[in-house]
Amino acid sequence: MSVRRSLLVGCGSYLPERVLSNAELAEKVDTSHEWIVQRTGIHQRHVAAEGELTSDLAINASNKALAAAGIAARDVDLIVVATTTPDDTFPATATKVQAGLGVTNGAAFDVQAVCAGFVYALAVADNFIKAGQCDTALVIGAETFTRILDWEDRTTCVLFGDGAGAVVLKAHEGSGGVDDHGILSTHLHSDGRERDILYVDGGPSSTGTTGHVRMEGKEVFKHAVSKLGGVIEEALEANGLNAADVDWLVPHQANRRIIDAMAKRMKLSSDKVVCCIERHANTSAASVPLALTEAVGDGRVKSGDLVLFEAIGGGLAWGAGLVRMGYPPSA
Ligand code: ACO
Repeated sequence: MSVRRSLLVGCGSYLPERVLSNAELAEKVDTSHEWIVQRTGIHQRHVAAEGELTSDLAINASNKALAAAGIAARDVDLIVVATTTPDDTFPATATKVQAGLGVTNGAAFDVQAVCAGFVYALAVADNFIKAGQCDTALVIGAETFTRILDWEDRTTCVLFGDGAGAVVLKAHEGSGGVDDHGILSTHLHSDGRERDILYVDGGPSSTGTTGHVRMEGKEVFKHAVSKLGGVIEEALEANGLNAADVDWLVPHQANRRIIDAMAKRMKLSSDKVVCCIERHANTSAASVPLALTEAVGDGRVKSGDLVLFEAIGGGLAWGAGLVRMGYPPSA
């Protein structure tokens, strides 16, 4: 049986030039390099320059993803940007990206699921492709997350950074089996009852301000380990696969200890897990495509590899996706 699939045919990323080390941060707030590394695995983060916007990061990452895919911007007919730090309250950052890339076809809109945003955007674009509503999609995670941090709150400001990652999806007829290339399945969840453990204390409708990130770290940590473990199992079961069938885990980069817990649960050795938290910190919706691009770029992740994405963030919102990378040999 022929099934419409979304092939993942290219990826790209962009990090702002400025690097902020733990040592530099320790000069501003009461923290230390040792504490940050021991609790999170983070050594440094990138910070967007003054005047450098989320859309700028997204456009840079998208141009690289399109070049890697060998696809012209004029062929893109859907742009989904996952972000919590849009340029403006409206219009959608995706429409600025659309204009910046010179795309005039189809639709462009933002998806808001905080750190789970990329997995949500991937699911949205995959479903548009499967429904026949578009043929070539750009899915972007882009954040200037450092702009919503309270730099006097050491419990949050040490954790986050800025960056962007993008992937290109292309419609293709597959067989419907797990050997198909492309997105095999996506799995999304949310639970609004947990809003108060991770939120921003401002917004256009509530305070008329942007607000700052507030988090009960221990609670988020507990939920992350149990919910990500659950959605990974769900994704594998839905496809009749075992953890051993997965070539690469590309997880959200929130905390090295959460990443290690997922690898342990899947019995995956650490060389099968893509981890870049030490250099990027938590870039929210950008973290998964940033990690993927790094692993594709250095030759670890290859065409035909089965990759498992997972992420969790404010909402709570979480999800996972299983993707066989690249073009099938016949394409
Ligand atoms: N430097 C030094 N000490 C600190 C710092 C800091 N930056 N931050 C907190 N501490 C102190 C605390 O005040 C506390 O001190 P006390 O014992 O005297 O009260 C002590 O360190 C321990 O604090 P905990 O909060 O218990 O530390 P924990 O081991 O839980 O680590 C952390 C905190 C890193 C935040 C962890 O809980 C975590 O990673 N949680 C998950 C975060 C996450 O995954 N977020 C992802 C989603 S983000 C999104 O969607 C936007």
